[in-house]
Amino acid sequence: MSDGSNKVKIFDTTLRDGEQAPGCSMTIDEKIHVARQLERLGVDAMEAGFPIASKGDFDGVREVAGAVGDVTVAALARCVTNDIERAAAALEPAARPRIHVFLATSEVHRRHKLKKARSEILKLAQQGVTEAKGCCRDVEFSPEDASRTEPDFLSDVVQAVIEAGATTVNIPDTVGYAIPWHFGRLISELMQNVKNINDAVISVHCHNDLGLAVANSLEAVRNGARQVECTVNGIGERAGNCSLEEVVMALRTRRDIFNADTNVRAKQIMHASRLVSNVTGMMVQRNKAVVGENAFAHEAGIHQDGMIKERSTYEIMAPEDVGAEKSRLVLGKHSGRHAFKKRMEELGMELDDRRFEHVFEEFKNLCDKKKQIFDEDIEAIVREELETGDGGRPVVELLNYHISSGTGAVPTATVELNLRGERITDAATGDGPIDAIYRTMDRITGLECALSDYTIRAVTGGKDAMGEVTVRVESGDNSERGRATSTDIVEASARAYLIAVNRIMRKIEDTHGD
Ligand code: KIV
Ligand code: ZN
Repeated sequence: MSDGSNKVKIFDTTLRDGEQAPGCSMTIDEKIHVARQLERLGVDAMEAGFPIASKGDFDGVREVAGAVGDVTVAALARCVTNDIERAAAALEPAARPRIHVFLATSEVHRRHKLKKARSEILKLAQQGVTEAKGCCRDVEFSPEDASRTEPDFLSDVVQAVIEAGATTVNIPDTVGYAIPWHFGRLISELMQNVKNINDAVISVHCHNDLGLAVANSLEAVRNGARQVECTVNGIGERAGNCSLEEVVMALRTRRDIFNADTNVRAKQIMHASRLVSNVTGMMVQRNKAVVGENAFAHEAGIHQDGMIKERSTYEIMAPEDVGAEKSRLVLGKHSGRHAFKKRMEELGMELDDRRFEHVFEEFKNLCDKKKQIFDEDIEAIVREELETGDGGRPVVELLNYHISSGTGAVPTATVELNLRGERITDAATGDGPIDAIYRTMDRITGLECALSDYTIRAVTGGKDAMGEVTVRVESGDNSERGRATSTDIVEASARAYLIAVNRIMRKIEDTHGD
């Protein structure tokens, strides 16, 4: 399996390790959208979830498995029969299923978490792989916390799971503790010491606690790893996972050093980045490598001068290589359904007919408010449709609002909502107009809510740009995100809040069987 090939497989875990991060949860519809984009991006495998974790995770894996074609879909499982059976059941619709079993091997995990000796761990790991193999030909094994595991024991585990039939063995740096040269040496020693190492693909899965996930992954590739596990925008537990776009572009840009490449269609990177940022609400920092807004911006005069004379003076990749070329002015009020649908498809967005009609109507409304419509505007409208059309009935809807605010005045909001079919109007004051609106809505719904996060950004440039508001609302044990866009930022704020409130109210009603 490790045939000396210089193809590095990309195993994307945005939908599992990425989604697991606080504030990054996705609805099933959102997962399907991301999965389809990952397929367009050309990843070799995507990990769709951890089916035993919840019914939502199980359904997510099943839906993703049925929605994509010829790409490996993996489901995570502990080395436990129930987990493995759930993973196998969730993967039933997959054309290329993979069960990914894991078990911690480091001393600290053995002693404190699992309370098991080395010999027991070895046995459980082998059993887990054998059981998974009974359900699925393609089995990956991960010795969790491998980078802090005694190297001799790690070698024994790797050899044992390959004997049991693991086709991929992943070496995770679970807590982001590894340092590049050290991690590279670990991979190189495994390649030398494990006698059946060539019967499996060696993978790495690095977390970014010290900001070294990409560097560690690259060093592993230099030493023989042929699969890299990563996430779009590097989202994931704590400081995140190895960033897909960075590792892919490092391999491609420095092919002279690595003599290796991936199957990724780099032009799809920017779409994937924006989609993941949008569905998770995790903004990409402006100076983020490859996909940040400033990644290809040249401000300094000397740089600009150099760029005009010869682009390669200051640019090691071209923005168009990763699909980050300047946004095109696309459509206007005279554009018809056909042109709109075509552009949406070019942007990699698909909707069923009902949703498409809704989005088209929103587009026409926007054309009345805004002279120029850019790709980002279309993406924002589609995002909001996905956000609101998550299959749930709205418990509460915004009908009208009025705010008064100004220097020396107490910000006051009057809001009319439709709450379960009843029109209710109320008013409240607040620290500012948004606070006043949110307080009024809380009075009407009777739900005690706290706003734990509020961000606003302009979707495009220009004074008439739409504002996109993302909020996180907490109520009791529930925490939900809402996002909405409008040329009126107060309206966007109100709608985003109500999306989150609706999600919370539906959850409460479902729990109490209302
Ligand atoms: O970080 C980790 O160790 C993991 C494993 C389940 C692969 O996510
Ligand atoms: Zn992880």
